[in-house]
Amino acid sequence: MITRKSKREIEMMHEAGKLLASVHKEIAKRMTPGITTKEIDDFVESYLADHGATPEQKGYSGYPYATCASVNDEICHGFPRDEKLVQGDIVTVDMVVNLNGGLADSAWTYVVGEADERTSKLLDVTKTSLYKGIEQAMPGNRIGDIGHAIQEYAEGEGYSVVRDFTGHGIGPTIHEEPHIPHFGLAGKGPRLKEGMVVTIEPMINEGAWQSKMDDNNWTARTVDGSRSAQYEHTIVIDKNGPIILTSQDD
Ligand code: MF3
Ligand code: CO
Repeated sequence: MITRKSKREIEMMHEAGKLLASVHKEIAKRMTPGITTKEIDDFVESYLADHGATPEQKGYSGYPYATCASVNDEICHGFPRDEKLVQGDIVTVDMVVNLNGGLADSAWTYVVGEADERTSKLLDVTKTSLYKGIEQAMPGNRIGDIGHAIQEYAEGEGYSVVRDFTGHGIGPTIHEEPHIPHFGLAGKGPRLKEGMVVTIEPMINEGAWQSKMDDNNWTARTVDGSRSAQYEHTIVIDKNGPIILTSQDD
């Protein structure tokens, strides 16, 4: 069942989203060579506690950490660890914030230190593909319109789109219907309706789209060792167009 959220639920999710955006801005400042993803995870947990929030991912289906931290060829659900990040690594930090029962989900890819041209392009295209998907998230459009816009753009830039993980409905639990693939056909799939709250979270690879699973049964990485980037926002389908609940721009 695809639920539509009340004004009150959306307001609570927006408060969680603003807090999540502020966490990402703090992480951006700390993303320098020598830091570890475990240190980032610890920082997030204490920052959320200081702001009266909890990391919803921790314990979700047995996931052990507050954040997912996916480095270089890791696509998603990387485990935070003690290895030091080095200049040029790319790291996707993904988390779900629970503030007073309102949830918000947002992932962001960071470069450790300075980005070279190749890395900047991967990140720019991935971020732009997210916004191209969000543009399609209008009442009356269909779910396929979102994936189609993302795929057409990202593949046109020479990248591939991960198929094995999708965006999703969210609130009051992390993963709700519908699935939102980041590829597909325009005009296909369920219609988007006012009040739906969903994530859009394209994972874009430099090489092939296929993924393989690590022995930890969580972490997905590219089959060919190519790098993968991801940006994710939680959005509301509103009559006046999409509202980004996790925006870092305000
Ligand atoms: N934030 C992730 C997403 O975008 C959810 C991760 S599932 C967890 O869908 F178990 F790692 F929490
Ligand atoms: Co997420």
